[in-house]
Amino acid sequence: HGVGERAGDLAGLSIAISAGGTREPIDPVRFIANLSTGRMGVELANEALARGATVSLVSANIDASVAGMVSPGVQVSKVSTAHELEAAMEKLAATHDVIVMSAAVSDFRVDNSADVKIKRGAPLKLSLVENPDILAGLARHKREGQIVVGFAAETGDEHVDYLEYGRQKARRKGADLLVINRVGAQAGFGDVDTTVTIVDSQGRTLSDATGSKRDAAAAIMTAIARKKSD
Ligand code: CTP
Ligand code: CA
Repeated sequence: HGVGERAGDLAGLSIAISAGGTREPIDPVRFIANLSTGRMGVELANEALARGATVSLVSANIDASVAGMVSPGVQVSKVSTAHELEAAMEKLAATHDVIVMSAAVSDFRVDNSADVKIKRGAPLKLSLVENPDILAGLARHKREGQIVVGFAAETGDEHVDYLEYGRQKARRKGADLLVINRVGAQAGFGDVDTTVTIVDSQGRTLSDATGSKRDAAAAIMTAIARKKSD
């Protein structure tokens, strides 16, 4: 299969996608980050554009090599912190039909970040406070007919399987579609094959796909096209 078969099925749709991972400053030269490269979000943006959508990509510290893969024609804006990402997505939500939160957002930020570089020599305590849940907020304030899509990166543990954690997250977030992604030491980050399961707001499976992130992006855009024609 390829993009060709579905060419144009997203024509007329405007899609805003966040990608990458936020950075929360500790001091002017240090930050809290995560392993997200932005690859999944960039594949989503390219796939959506190829299928006829108008695409805005909000890039949160995407790896340089991945940023170079963004198709010309995707409108890119850059942010760094979760607060900046929230402001950018809320602004785009006012004008876009579909919102996709594929960025890895830091759950916490440093409450006592320093304006000058912190020196060694004394014990340091960072105080972390919770960041806003951007996806849940976008889902809560969704406009009529708008589609909100979230991701769930899950490892599972000895008590609960990763899919079940994802289904629980779907019910909690209120997004129309949630893409459950199994992550681990080897799986999930960068240029690796991935297995995604797409569920609805009740946690019911709609479809799944295994393959490259491009294959996963195609499956996600197909789920969005289907949801739109519901
Ligand atoms: N997300 C968000 N704002 C946050 C944290 C997460 O918008 N502060 C979004 C992510 O972009 C993703 C979805 O919520 O689309 C799920 O992120 P995830 O980290 O898996 O979920 P959390 O609700 O943060 O739960 P957990 O405690 O498992 O990290
Ligand atoms: Ca989280």
